[in-house]
Amino acid sequence: MPPLAARSTERAEAVRCVRHGRGVVVVGEAGVGKTALATAVAEEVSGHVGAVLWTVATAAARPIPFGALAPLLPADLAGVHPALVPNLVGRRLRELAGDRPALLVIDDAQLLDEHSAAAVLTLVTGRGCRVLATVRADSPVSDAVVALWKDRLLDRLDLAPLDRAGVAALLADRLGGEVAAGTVELLREHSRGNPLYLTELVRFGQGTGRLRREA
Ligand SMILES: Nc1ncnc2c1ncn2[C@@H]1O[C@H](COP(=O)(O)OP(=O)(O)OP(=O)(O)O)[C@@H](O)[C@H]1O
Ligand SMILES: [Mg+2]
Repeated sequence: MPPLAARSTERAEAVRCVRHGRGVVVVGEAGVGKTALATAVAEEVSGHVGAVLWTVATAAARPIPFGALAPLLPADLAGVHPALVPNLVGRRLRELAGDRPALLVIDDAQLLDEHSAAAVLTLVTGRGCRVLATVRADSPVSDAVVALWKDRLLDRLDLAPLDRAGVAALLADRLGGEVAAGTVELLREHSRGNPLYLTELVRFGQGTGRLRREA
């Protein structure tokens, strides 16, 4: 991942929630930088927690009960009542993290299967781990995931598109120097401050020679 440009306020806020609260849910539109922020935050707090575990929820794994938590489950789940799974996950997290808290990062939590979502809610309620989750705005989300922030177990951080200064910072990082104000404005307008679109526009501009360095 390229270095995180701008976002110092959001990053500090998310770090605070993970270090001193139960965690945070980062919500925002597609491509706005949720995964990039979560990556930077997980890296920053890694020295302060006992272990960082990543899981990415996907549509493909959604039909599989506890699919998103599979790496934290014993190989043989046959005969285990689903209600006991959060205990098993909690125990595994304690094994991995020792006497410090574990951080469970759940990317794209809107795609969590219902069983995993319920297990995560139970874990957070029982303070079994800290959670850093990302959720795509305007997607249908399991009620157990909504409860994470609605019941104020986790903080909710809404990630907005980049403002003009943020766009300028991202462009300066990507292009290796300050970018002309007119170019920043043009790219901000066309990308609406969305880092994914911005990155694609930079790639296109460089590929076609429309974006070039001037001495
Ligand atoms: N603050 C930033 N600085 C530099 N690059 C960024 C920043 N935010 C996002 N990006 C880049 O923009 C692209 C999209 O970001 P990211 O994948 O984090 O978005 P997302 O919100 O997770 O999207 P999705 O909803 O599709 O999962 C990535 O290439 C990422 O590296
Ligand atoms: Mg993402």
